[in-house]
Amino acid sequence: MQNKISITKPSISELEIEYVNDAIRNGWGPKCYDYINKFEKSFPEYIGSKFGLATSSCTGAIHLALMAMGIKSGDEVIVPDSTWIASVEPILYIGAKPVFVDVLEDTWCIDPIEIERAITNKTTAIIPVHLYGNVCEMDEIMEIATKYKLKVLEDAAEGLGSEYKGKKCGSIGDAGVFSFHGTKTMSTGEGGIICTNNKEIYSKASILNDHGRDPKIGKTFWMENYGYKYKMSNLQAAMGCAQVKRLEELVAHKRLVFSWYKEGFKILKGFKLMKNRIMQ
Ligand SMILES: Cc1ncc(COP(=O)(O)O)c(C=O)c1O
Repeated sequence: MQNKISITKPSISELEIEYVNDAIRNGWGPKCYDYINKFEKSFPEYIGSKFGLATSSCTGAIHLALMAMGIKSGDEVIVPDSTWIASVEPILYIGAKPVFVDVLEDTWCIDPIEIERAITNKTTAIIPVHLYGNVCEMDEIMEIATKYKLKVLEDAAEGLGSEYKGKKCGSIGDAGVFSFHGTKTMSTGEGGIICTNNKEIYSKASILNDHGRDPKIGKTFWMENYGYKYKMSNLQAAMGCAQVKRLEELVAHKRLVFSWYKEGFKILKGFKLMKNRIMQ
């Protein structure tokens, strides 16, 4: 029988155990948002974004972000044809149409030339996906977005720690989303976040994530419109706070694992690893 290489598991230290224990023991009543508030500050700080909205998954984060950007039924949204299905499903949730375009041979990330070819008068957004920690050609993508007045939502679910010209993936477009599923570089069990520098996107996504409640109205049981609930729990956020403190270490270890594969695969003739900027 062949030995299988198991999928990655989160790295859990005493710090995660301490924070989650504290959240279980004390994080209730008036303290029930304490770790969420801390996490929504510390994670975007690492990314280099002003605002962060923690969610129950990255899939939910994509759904909220698209709605907050004003993407609506009938719009066309450009996505790479090689990604996890969750990059695409939320486009369908809102009745918009995913338009698939090819990826580049060396990074498996969306090809900017193909993006421009796919644009029609219905196109309103592009979702570049930083696949496997590889990095999309963000300068070209942002230039196209500006030229055609399109929104850019970076799917950085797999791109935590990757950088493009000194900027962290997920901090370059109108908004970026991350996943904290157990297979990702850092984890909260399940979870996600929207990071953005755009206050309007952040505010709209926050209202949508609270059943449509607008804090400016100040009435607890009053919803101007219906919304959604993709919230992260305080327990998950406690784990997230500990993982953020260890992010440099977690990303460095990921690089180390990559170097093992790179070395190990040298014996395979003609085998080419993708260009991976996180590792450079
Ligand atoms: C590229 C990409 N986008 C989105 C997601 C969705 O993340 P989540 O499972 O947290 O909803 C994933 C998760 O595997 C992913 O790899």
